[in-house]
Amino acid sequence: MTNIDQIIIETIDNDPAAIKDEYLKKITQIDQLEDLEKIRLDLFVQNGAITQLVKKIPTFPVEHRKQVGQRFNEIKDNLYKAYQDKKEILEKQALDAKLVADKKDLTLPVRPENDGRIHPITQTIEEIMTIFGGMGFDLAEGPDIEDDFHNFTALNFPAGHPARDMHDTFYFPEKAPGTKLLLRTHTSTVQIRSMKEKGAPIRIIAPGRTYRSDSDMTHTPMFHQVEGLYIDKDIHMGHLKNCLHQFCWKFFGIDDQAIRLRPSFFPFTEPSAEVDIKCTRHPDRIELGVGDSWLEILGCGMVHPNVLKNCGIDPEIYQGFAFGMGIERIAMLKYGIPDLRTFFEADWGWLQHYGFSPYQRSPI
Ligand code: PHE
Repeated sequence: MTNIDQIIIETIDNDPAAIKDEYLKKITQIDQLEDLEKIRLDLFVQNGAITQLVKKIPTFPVEHRKQVGQRFNEIKDNLYKAYQDKKEILEKQALDAKLVADKKDLTLPVRPENDGRIHPITQTIEEIMTIFGGMGFDLAEGPDIEDDFHNFTALNFPAGHPARDMHDTFYFPEKAPGTKLLLRTHTSTVQIRSMKEKGAPIRIIAPGRTYRSDSDMTHTPMFHQVEGLYIDKDIHMGHLKNCLHQFCWKFFGIDDQAIRLRPSFFPFTEPSAEVDIKCTRHPDRIELGVGDSWLEILGCGMVHPNVLKNCGIDPEIYQGFAFGMGIERIAMLKYGIPDLRTFFEADWGWLQHYGFSPYQRSPI
């Protein structure tokens, strides 16, 4: 024992070297971080053993203070290093244990995920847009809530036409006389809005919701249509037929799916036609492309001169065709969906079956 150690023991009536040895021994034995933390508190905080020692330095005679201070510092550094070393070891051990416990087994199969499904109507609209987009048609939109002008008058419906009847059309209560709003009964309203806005030439398709006061096995009060309109200087019925023929081949994926145009009547087209596609009717399903049966899928015709005039287009210069197609109808045919009403029941099982995986579908 050096002289200074002797002086220290006598002055403070305690042996710091013994304290050091005692704590070094404790630190060696510790194997938990919490216990090590207790040692840190015992030694180094405000009232800790080491702090207390340092506080005692002023009680020594001046000539010894420097040496005493050095001694205390040695003890302090010694203990602090032992504490630090042990802390590092214990922390590493804790981390290793955590890594082992948290280890991920990358060979496990992934858990089944519920990805959701794309509704067949959305899928069908996208297919329609892809096909007509490829033929140079732009996309157009119009509001679901319309006025009498865009839904009827501009489309050459005479006053008193049965379609204006309360039984077919959902009217809103009239706020001021002559301003009755309604839910559009067809997408032909978008023809009017697009021609008025953009003039001619014009080539658009307009998919969207339509509404009629009808509800049974084959009708729902809300359904979807897509409108087509092509106005230019030399457009004739041949273009109309070819355009729809091409669409049917591509949409149904059947080479040369035969179609026929059957004379019909719409106030806004002249001449007008209904388009049928060739099929066979089996007791439980309809087979497309073959057979001697026909199935109606859309209405079309050459846009009536009055309609062009109503939109500020000179019918002596411009002509063209329009068509309107029920989206549910062609989706049911293509995807074998038997009941129209199921489209709108939001049934998860139905959607799992008839819907499309967002990751595995192609636009056509
Ligand atoms: N708007 C018609 C209907 O809803 C369909 C149609 C559109 C017919 C364009 C001819 C031209 O039945």
